[in-house]
Amino acid sequence: MSKIEPLIQVRVAAIKDEAMGIRSFELHALPGHTPLPAFKAGAHIEVHLASGLVRQYSLCSSPHDRGRYTVAVLHAANSRGGSAAMHSLTEGQFLDISPPRNHFPLQTPRSGEPVPLLLAGGIGITPLLAMARELVGSDEGFELRYACRTEAAVAFRSELEALTKQSPISRAVKFHLDDGPAAQRLSITDLLLNSSPETDIYVCGPQGFIEAVLEQAGQCGWPDSKLHFEYFGASVNTDAEDDDFEVRIASTGRVFRISRDASITSTLAKGGVEIPVSCEQGVCGTCMTEVVEGEPDHRDHYLGTSERESNKVILPCCSRSKSRTLVLAL
Ligand code: FES
Repeated sequence: MSKIEPLIQVRVAAIKDEAMGIRSFELHALPGHTPLPAFKAGAHIEVHLASGLVRQYSLCSSPHDRGRYTVAVLHAANSRGGSAAMHSLTEGQFLDISPPRNHFPLQTPRSGEPVPLLLAGGIGITPLLAMARELVGSDEGFELRYACRTEAAVAFRSELEALTKQSPISRAVKFHLDDGPAAQRLSITDLLLNSSPETDIYVCGPQGFIEAVLEQAGQCGWPDSKLHFEYFGASVNTDAEDDDFEVRIASTGRVFRISRDASITSTLAKGGVEIPVSCEQGVCGTCMTEVVEGEPDHRDHYLGTSERESNKVILPCCSRSKSRTLVLAL
């Protein structure tokens, strides 16, 4: 179901160490190819690496700057190849990227509504930095809380402090360090108890951070429509009772047996049926595939409730089947 769009070639114009393990990459359009496609805060691009890996990174540059895109990448200790490849890039290299896509859009604040609350955990700051850059020019501004393990892990501190000075709200950005004094640590409960459930919350970061915010917000009365989130990575849920099932390809009738310890995408790929993948953790949506028959066992962090309940689509990189056979529109 993913639409194939022509790739854009860009030049890695500048690489900067932003924090412990985090590097930013400024990607410039090639001469004669400006402006780059427009994007809204919250958007990401896919970076196609030389090894054939495809990885998604949020844009953290200003949506108003059409001459460059900036992404920032944490070199993951358990890298599956993507962040390590990004960190070995050098200035002057060329990269193929997709046009921006946005699954985490910033809603335009309506007058009289509470200012949006941006909650970042670690590398989750990247899409929220783009949102802060966009919101700083509005009448209301924004509030951003940025939680990191330690000061050395804080990225973009100077940019965030500059945005604070431009914001109509004093102390719009607050930093919270896990290893700092107790009084400055982020208490999600206190923060939400002192905010209105009419506030749009945007949260990005590690899975545990996002889940803690969503759970607390639910308990404090936030409606789902006011909660916006994007996972960077997530553990793929497995179940000790997972069983084998079959996938039938609607166009050819070929049947694949999916064993309890294999994914649909990897099994089909071995048989020559390729479904495009990127995160392989159910967070990016790249592999979304239409279901013709059968009941998916959704294990992703991407589909909304109505898509999930419709059983018309599946993210086959991580999801399984409740029915004995699943027929996919391939
Ligand atoms: Fe990202 Fe399946 S590849 S959701």
